[in-house]
Amino acid sequence: MGAKSLKRRPIKQHNPEPQASMASSRRKIGSHRKVSVLLSASLTIAVIGLFAIWSYSRHNFESGVSYEMGRVVNEFPHDSDAFTQGLLYAENDTLFESTGLYGKSTVRKVNLHTGKVEVLQKMDDSLFGEGLTLIGERLFQVTWLQKTGFIYDRDNLSKLQQFTHEMKDGWGLATDGKVLYGSDGSSTLYHIDPSTFKVISKQVVHFKGHQVHNLNELELINGEIWANVYMTDCIAKISPKDGRVLGWVVLPNLRQELIAAGNNGIDVLNGIAWDSEQKRVFVTGKLWPKLYEIKLLPIKKSFEEGVIEQLCLRNPFRFTT
Ligand SMILES: *[C@@H]1O[C@H](CO)[C@@H](O)[C@H](O)[C@H]1NC(C)=O
Ligand SMILES: *[C@@H]1O[C@H](CO)[C@@H](O)[C@H](O)[C@H]1NC(C)=O
Repeated sequence: MGAKSLKRRPIKQHNPEPQASMASSRRKIGSHRKVSVLLSASLTIAVIGLFAIWSYSRHNFESGVSYEMGRVVNEFPHDSDAFTQGLLYAENDTLFESTGLYGKSTVRKVNLHTGKVEVLQKMDDSLFGEGLTLIGERLFQVTWLQKTGFIYDRDNLSKLQQFTHEMKDGWGLATDGKVLYGSDGSSTLYHIDPSTFKVISKQVVHFKGHQVHNLNELELINGEIWANVYMTDCIAKISPKDGRVLGWVVLPNLRQELIAAGNNGIDVLNGIAWDSEQKRVFVTGKLWPKLYEIKLLPIKKSFEEGVIEQLCLRNPFRFTT
């Protein structure tokens, strides 16, 4: 349109007309130009608008996923002999922790600041401790390669009860106080009745059409299930309604820095705890000498296709004897 109106001008100029009509013709040309400028401007705006809507909806459709990293705001000592499988925060700077490995599995009440184990319940040597969560006065724990779980008193950690669950294995536990959320190392998030231990519902956890396998330690934070993904430095934030991954917390620096500092024997990132009153997030790992309070920072740069999949997704873990 702009090009057409430019072409018209020389033709008019080479076609002399009486003064009056020339003036009116100029006005006409002027108004033609105004119209075309207006038209091209509105077309441009429309195109930009459409592009904005398209890229916004494309962005929301394709990702709708938040990406965050963690900045360490506090470091606390952690028992480097604790093969952390379950972790949670209770009031008064107290953590409850469940540890694994045969012959070394325990449930423990830990002072956040000193890392000191205040109460310890050693498990039978035939058991491998896994996920832990607290409902009221009772701690619930699952065990690896078994469908047997245990309930302990939160104060003295004495064993109150044993239960059998319906998951394929026992990996992670979390709760909203009413329902137990469980993981069994697969991509399934289970909702379990804490009195009957029946599965109420379950979802397959998914990210961009991929199943998220190896769901491990769990925590409920602001209505989202946060899950360590075994063998990665990633935490998936999962919608307990539909199993969709709402976001990723990517923390490779914690493990890498511990190794760089000479802690060669450490295992993977595992263990998330949430202080809902002071809004503090704690993370640690298996055999890590430290436990960290982290603040989450949005990652501004966009990831190339496949980078998050490579960092945070693994093939299903298969245990072979
Ligand atoms: C936390 O500490 C306060 C003050 O010492 C005490 O009154 C309260 O019972 C403690 N809560 C728990 C759960 O231990
Ligand atoms: C632990 O606490 C529970 C509940 O208060 C109580 O019934 C039990 O006797 C206690 N066990 C020990 C060994 O103190």
